[in-house]
Amino acid sequence: MAGLGLWMAFISVCFVSVSALLQRLEHPVKTDGSLSLVVIGDWGRKGTYNQSEVSAQMGRVAAKLNIDFVISTGDNFYDDGLTGIDDPAFENSFSKIYNAKSLQKQWYNVLGNHDYRGDVEAQLNPILQNIDPRWICQKSFIVDTEIAEFFFVDTTPFVDKYFLKPKEHKYDWRGVLPREKYLSKLLMDLEIALKDSTADWKIVVGHHPVRSIGHHGDTQELIRQLLPILEANDVDMYINGHDHCLEHISSTSSQIQFLTSGGGSKAWKGDIDKERRDGMEFYYDGQGFMSLELQQTNAKVVYYDIFGQVLHTVNLFKGLRSASAI
Ligand SMILES: *[C@@H]1O[C@H](CO)[C@@H](O)[C@H](O)[C@H]1NC(C)=O
Repeated sequence: MAGLGLWMAFISVCFVSVSALLQRLEHPVKTDGSLSLVVIGDWGRKGTYNQSEVSAQMGRVAAKLNIDFVISTGDNFYDDGLTGIDDPAFENSFSKIYNAKSLQKQWYNVLGNHDYRGDVEAQLNPILQNIDPRWICQKSFIVDTEIAEFFFVDTTPFVDKYFLKPKEHKYDWRGVLPREKYLSKLLMDLEIALKDSTADWKIVVGHHPVRSIGHHGDTQELIRQLLPILEANDVDMYINGHDHCLEHISSTSSQIQFLTSGGGSKAWKGDIDKERRDGMEFYYDGQGFMSLELQQTNAKVVYYDIFGQVLHTVNLFKGLRSASAI
């Protein structure tokens, strides 16, 4: 009997670890094997604060690059997420704003802290695809393409202050509590998926920055809990929003590039931390967005302002990197 009990325990452990894995969505690459996309964050304000101007330029660039999909780094609907699946903000801040033909592609969205202040399950509900088929939002998931894997991570539950000062705002923590269990499972699932990945490019996307010199700055919880996993698994890029700016910081301890695209609407905060400049490559305290072009051995990241002007370009090479490591 004891043997059977042990066997049952083994089976249930296997079952739990298998069912725990992050959901994986497949997305095809272009016929030449490349992939291109645009990244926008912190946007849903019914077109105000230059949201519409950013959208227009994003549409222009997306057409030029013939993008495969769009990534949203979260804070999709201000101020307090969606009130429900019938909230008109979904159309007024998303469908009607990003109306260029070139942007009628899949949108992969993560949640930001402002999204957690509404009915969080509304944004996660696939029924929204009946209103706009572009919309895909999950808490944490993987988009698998032939040359790159994108690991979307739900970063809001990592941040202590949302739990320590819950009176400031009400958060919809359905599906997150108990918090410690949620976070440890997420980190474990991510680590397993990163270790298993054979993609040429490993790209992690979250709402909160790991490193930033903007208004919110570094997220200490992510530096402590997430960054070691990213570094140990050769992640190439960490892409985020939260600070309403465009920013590029390189790492001094690994190959990771920290890329902030949080300029989807309200910006111009004006409080950059000028003291901390290690690894700082670029900072723009205004609205805009980012494009990403991937080929097997090279990646190109470009930042644009609301006039579509190129502000900063990052070129990464796989071959050169391994050569310089010898
Ligand atoms: C819109 O963008 C322009 C150009 O960058 C800027 O001067 C203006 O302040 C922005 N408006 C708002 C409301 O942020």
